[in-house]
Amino acid sequence: MATPNSPRKILVTSALPYANGSIHLGHLVEYIQTDIWVRFQKMQGHTVHYVCADDTHGTPIMLRAEKEGITPETLIANVHKEHSADFSGFLIGFDNYYSTNAPENKALSQGIYNKLKAAGKIATKTIEQFYDPVKNMFLPDRFIKGECPKCHAKDQYGDSCEVCGATYNPTELINAYSAVSGAAPVRKETEHYFFKLSDCEDFLKAWTRSGTLQGEAANKMGEWFENGLNDWDISRDAPYFGFEIPDAPGKYFYVWLDAPIGYMASFKKLCAMSQQGADGNQKVGLDFDEYWKQDSATELYHFIGKDILYFHALFWPATLEFSGHRKPTQIFAHGFLTVNGEKMSKSRGTFITARSYLDHIKNPEYLRYYYAAKLNSTMEDIDLNLEDFVARVNSDLVGKYINIASRTAGFINKRFDGKLNPSANNAVIAEIKAAAPLLADSYAEREYGKALREIMRLADLANGFVADKAPWVLAKQEGQDALLQEVCSDALEMFRLLTLYLKPVLPKLAGEVEQFLNVAPLTWAVVDASLSAQHSINAYAHLITRIEPKQIEALTEANKESLQATPVPPAHSEQRHAQHQQNEANASAEEPAYISIEDFTKVDLRIAKIVNAEHVEGAEKLLKLSLDIGEEKPRQVFAGIKSAYDPATLIGRLTVMVANLAPRKMKFGMSEGMVLAASDERGGPYILSPDNGAQPGMRVK
Ligand code: 2FM
Ligand code: ZN
Repeated sequence: MATPNSPRKILVTSALPYANGSIHLGHLVEYIQTDIWVRFQKMQGHTVHYVCADDTHGTPIMLRAEKEGITPETLIANVHKEHSADFSGFLIGFDNYYSTNAPENKALSQGIYNKLKAAGKIATKTIEQFYDPVKNMFLPDRFIKGECPKCHAKDQYGDSCEVCGATYNPTELINAYSAVSGAAPVRKETEHYFFKLSDCEDFLKAWTRSGTLQGEAANKMGEWFENGLNDWDISRDAPYFGFEIPDAPGKYFYVWLDAPIGYMASFKKLCAMSQQGADGNQKVGLDFDEYWKQDSATELYHFIGKDILYFHALFWPATLEFSGHRKPTQIFAHGFLTVNGEKMSKSRGTFITARSYLDHIKNPEYLRYYYAAKLNSTMEDIDLNLEDFVARVNSDLVGKYINIASRTAGFINKRFDGKLNPSANNAVIAEIKAAAPLLADSYAEREYGKALREIMRLADLANGFVADKAPWVLAKQEGQDALLQEVCSDALEMFRLLTLYLKPVLPKLAGEVEQFLNVAPLTWAVVDASLSAQHSINAYAHLITRIEPKQIEALTEANKESLQATPVPPAHSEQRHAQHQQNEANASAEEPAYISIEDFTKVDLRIAKIVNAEHVEGAEKLLKLSLDIGEEKPRQVFAGIKSAYDPATLIGRLTVMVANLAPRKMKFGMSEGMVLAASDERGGPYILSPDNGAQPGMRVK
């Protein structure tokens, strides 16, 4: 590894979030962990590039777009905007945030596949899979439901039961049905493409034992090797939203093949952007090959959750090795997030989206600080205890750290015209400076909790110094001006050093402090510098406020409500199938929460007369309805009932609609409400009819 004097060239990634769900506090553990590490390495003077992207392919995204009546491209473009805003709201400093549905990724994926094929690592095999005869598509396990073979719970997924926890094959489900159409799936043969992982065992064994993984992860790999490696099924049949496999019409790369290649694609785009500055001036270009060639001298780090280790520690290095690329320097896996000691929960309001945190708590750095305080280099889960969160942020950041400046800056500003005059020698400053190497090691090793404990110990020393010298007493004493100035100047030097140490975690606050202290952006090198005599600081403005417990209450309340109104899509364990790992985000596994009568009355249900019903050109499932609910003009509603109704038979019927659903722009026009209909595996959809006497516009309650 390079010495501190020769800057290292480092490429860092976080896992690519799926493009069909919102970013939540569980995701943020990883992005915050990575961002802190990247900021720390940049402060060391290394050349660091941090790239990420939306993971956009696969069946769930395709079906969700279809359900919403939009194209997958529109869906992923909307989500890209949302995710980008969430990440910037949490100060995640990606150098590029891209998409796997990009030309660079297509070219790279197809190129890598061709190399693997030329290396003899691709085989084809005919396999039997479940097929939906109504929807005409093969069904991923997650889209087959039925009765659990063990506990007989109804409506369980094809790979595991959420009631008793059993895992099984979809063939074992009783009365299986397609979650897409409700039809009974049939078994059908199809040719699939496989990556011959079983051929890569020697390489993978050597690679996983070469210090690339944490101890726990390496042990896990040992278990996998003992069980023997299976060839990896990398193809899916049309219809599929993804990239076509070269020379294999109707066959697409499985999302997990092109997802990690998305790391490369995002970097490739960054290289292209680096060729030209925003002002059109030529800049020093980044060289893609320098970072990805077989014998690259640069470093590559992937931060991931422990549930996707299999993909990153087996499939990914093998893909890279046999397509002639460099391998990751290290894989850093972390644990899951629990909130108040339990899995995030919609009914408890602890399944908190990034957006709603920002709306209610406002300051992202509180969460960054709290997560950092809890994080270490292991794969242990971390807990966000909401009460402790409030206490910790208020006591450490407000009570300890900011307190040093707020108790001293005013004297410098008011009594000395902003001018400093520090002492020649201060033992506390010396001790704070001496901690720099230990803190640097802790950050580099991802032992953030250890770093913050040490920083808070140093903050205690600084506060002890201030309390001991009591500038507020000196300020009232005759002839103590010089000492007052010296004490406050020294305290501000301590504050400068602590700010530098906290900067990877609190980059925005550190920027405000730099402005207040009137210093250049703090880097690790300026630990050795000091605020000199005659240096002028700017006026001190209040830098941070306490969190109030009622903000937390409002946050959890809001998440209870909003999640009942907008269900989070189920987690895609199909995509993590290889390990049958529970996704921490899989709150869909929970029992539904009760709602109050107030919640129910928020839904404005009305008797509606169907004054017109017609087919919609190009729509597979939808009928266009005009509904009279006693308003001036009938409402236009698109209803997914085409499979069950001839439009002509609907005209003149009364039914029930949700009248206060926000209008939605669909591919075929605006939909101004929703018609209620019943369905399950036994059939449907069946629309509702009121009893005789009901009139259009009557409220249903
Ligand atoms: O598990 C997930 O959320 C995946 N979308 C992660 C992909 S990471 C990488 F390999 F692309
Ligand atoms: Zn069961």
